[in-house]
Amino acid sequence: MSVEAFRLDGRTVLVTGASSGLGRRIAIDCAGMGAKLLVSGRDASRLADTLANLPGEGHRAIEADLLDGQALQRLAREAGVINGLVHSAGISRLAPIRMATREHLSEVWKINYEAPVLLTQQLLARNQVAPDGSILFLSSIAAFIGVAGVGVYSGSKAALIATMRCLAMEVVKRRIRVNCLAPALVESPLLEATEKMVMSIETTKADYPLGFGKAEDVANAAVFFLSGASRWITGATLVMDGGLTIS
Ligand SMILES: NC(=O)c1ccc[n+]([C@@H]2O[C@H](COP(=O)([O-])OP(=O)(O)OC[C@H]3O[C@@H](n4cnc5c(N)ncnc54)[C@H](OP(=O)(O)O)[C@@H]3O)[C@@H](O)[C@H]2O)c1
Repeated sequence: MSVEAFRLDGRTVLVTGASSGLGRRIAIDCAGMGAKLLVSGRDASRLADTLANLPGEGHRAIEADLLDGQALQRLAREAGVINGLVHSAGISRLAPIRMATREHLSEVWKINYEAPVLLTQQLLARNQVAPDGSILFLSSIAAFIGVAGVGVYSGSKAALIATMRCLAMEVVKRRIRVNCLAPALVESPLLEATEKMVMSIETTKADYPLGFGKAEDVANAAVFFLSGASRWITGATLVMDGGLTIS
């Protein structure tokens, strides 16, 4: 086995949601493994902070609200040819189905499902994902388990897995690989927001034999999926949950 297989030298990787949480950690760790990064997010100052923390040189930040069709197209155009794409932008909104409004469905669906699919479409339509490239979606353990109040979010994350498998078949002839990560709760701003809304965090943590994850746990998996070390893996979903679903 060669450690070199896990490196990302010479690869350009676009990460959405790079202004916060998992996307930021993924971007920093990909840069640490030699990749040139294009980081995207909405919040200019937090995005600049990510950019400033990327090891190495030649990285760029592109601000874009992915709900804005023109901004999404501009992001795709300005990205140029890339070798890796990580869709980390997403939101968690909670409501039991009996209280879920059309607006709630639309808000969650647009950023968690439509935006990553449309951004991928734009890049593929212009042949901007290089052969041997790797596309990674951030799904969630929510796609596999039932948790009250999380139905719409869970649906958006399950849809990503289903679409990812079809996309994997469409691009395999160009040796582009497509996979999903499905993390359970990871210590992040999104967890803090969720915690405030629904649960006693200590009760939930007791269900995790290995405790909650950390952003670097997810980033390690992202580096693997973007690197040549995973060259034989496509159409897969990696559940990362600290033992939650086997306990
Ligand atoms: N944290 C967890 O425990 C966990 C577990 C499973 C799956 N996930 C998934 O992992 C992904 C990242 O989660 P996280 O914890 O890193 O969340 P986070 O810290 O809240 O970050 C969310 C990111 O999405 C971006 N974003 C939101 N709406 C956007 C929009 N309209 N246009 C462009 N960017 C937008 C935000 O950009 P700005 O801040 O610049 O607005 C931010 O960079 C999400 O898809 C989430 O569902 C997270």
